[in-house]
Amino acid sequence: MQTKKNNVMVAPSILSADFGRMNEEVERMDKCGADVVHCDVMDGIFVPNITFGFKMIADIKKKTKLPLDVHLMIDCPERYVERFIDAGADWLTIHYEATDILIPTLEKIKKRGVKCGAVISPDTPVQVLRECFPICDIVLLMSVYPGFGGQKFIEKSLGRMSELKKLRVETGSGALLEVDGGITADNAEAIVRAGADVLVAGNTLFSAQDPAAVINGFHAL
Ligand code: DX5
Ligand code: ZN
Repeated sequence: MQTKKNNVMVAPSILSADFGRMNEEVERMDKCGADVVHCDVMDGIFVPNITFGFKMIADIKKKTKLPLDVHLMIDCPERYVERFIDAGADWLTIHYEATDILIPTLEKIKKRGVKCGAVISPDTPVQVLRECFPICDIVLLMSVYPGFGGQKFIEKSLGRMSELKKLRVETGSGALLEVDGGITADNAEAIVRAGADVLVAGNTLFSAQDPAAVINGFHAL
């Protein structure tokens, strides 16, 4: 076991798991040292892909003690946050681009005792989060265009992460900074140096020969 220098948390994205063996896949990541389970919910409208909904979250919840980090890539998430909380979400993040009522929806999540977060896609300016930052427990920066696993990390995300870190100080927020998309053993160090507290990784972990070694490596950053 490596020492945790920056207390980096690792969140395997089950988008890259075998959906037919989800229980074993989650258990495998748990045994390999994952800190949270990242669950990508897609509606085919906000993003051009469809994954799963409440039932999958509820079923995973029954099988693991790890917190469930539910990333909603759905249009008007305010319609469904209550149901994802009822299903067992421990962290619930919603896209800035998907709703006209971001702050009230974050407050609604928080009131239920669940960690709330705002997400921005790669072309959305970081500064749009200024107002909601103090409410957020998590801010999630997409480092690929949302919709699919296995994409290449968008390099400008490093500068955007540094800007987010600065904005966190300016707004007096204690939010965790999470990065999602294209994270590998080669770029993780630079991402953590730029300010990431939570690394989401799908393809890198689920296709690894030895996912525990990759997770240990991330923890040692
Ligand atoms: C993309 C999802 C990510 C994705 C990350 O829309 O939000 O969580 O699964 O997968 P990798 O690590 O393969 O880029
Ligand atoms: Zn995600």
